[in-house]
Amino acid sequence: MIIAIDGYSSCGKSTLAKDLAHTLQYTYLDSGAMYRAVTLYFLDNNISFNDSEAINKALNLIEIRFEEHSNRTLLNDIDVESEIRSPRVSDQVSPVSTISAVRKKMVEQQRAMAIQGSIVMDGRDIGTVVFPNAELKIFLTANINIRTNRRLDEMQRKGYEISKTEIMKNLETRDRIDSSRADSPLSQAEDAVLLDNSNLTRKEQITMVLALAKYRQSNLEKA
Ligand code: DC
Repeated sequence: MIIAIDGYSSCGKSTLAKDLAHTLQYTYLDSGAMYRAVTLYFLDNNISFNDSEAINKALNLIEIRFEEHSNRTLLNDIDVESEIRSPRVSDQVSPVSTISAVRKKMVEQQRAMAIQGSIVMDGRDIGTVVFPNAELKIFLTANINIRTNRRLDEMQRKGYEISKTEIMKNLETRDRIDSSRADSPLSQAEDAVLLDNSNLTRKEQITMVLALAKYRQSNLEKA
């Protein structure tokens, strides 16, 4: 079974996906981490986002994996989990994600990772492009103020000095670029369940989605 979770930035997609994967014993795959790792590589190697030749060359030199138990992101065998969450990467990841060559490569790898068995994957195009036949698709949304406060908490815990205004601007800009790009824009799949978690606790959210996942799973087993 494949569970696809899509939605806007900082809606708590990865929290939900991790909770589901943990409870159901599925593999969790964070597709956003892959776009973030590519962005980090481009920034560190001065790859211009307009230089398609350099981009194609770089894509052949990039290997992204997730460490088995911790799920930490490895870029060419180096742990980049913290760096890919930095404001420097967050500010550039949406423009990088508009590049079709990047998307093609990431989607190929995401599909290959799913061959392993049951997975939960979160991102922006999982239910629409990567796994259009996923058995359960959730489209998450939440109020922008709540999303900003959640991200602010997370960044402050990590020791970044960043204002609420800067965070809100980053989320709004990313949502706009992610939803309006030509290749695989963020959109709710027709058969996705829309869930606004603004007023849900983490426990309430997982309880609701778990019930749905178990119901779908039992129908699959009967079929
Ligand atoms: O989930 P995240 O915030 O870590 O994702 C970072 C960026 O990566 C997001 O702003 C857009 C891009 N992304 C994408 O284009 N497609 C995906 N499936 C996942 C992320």
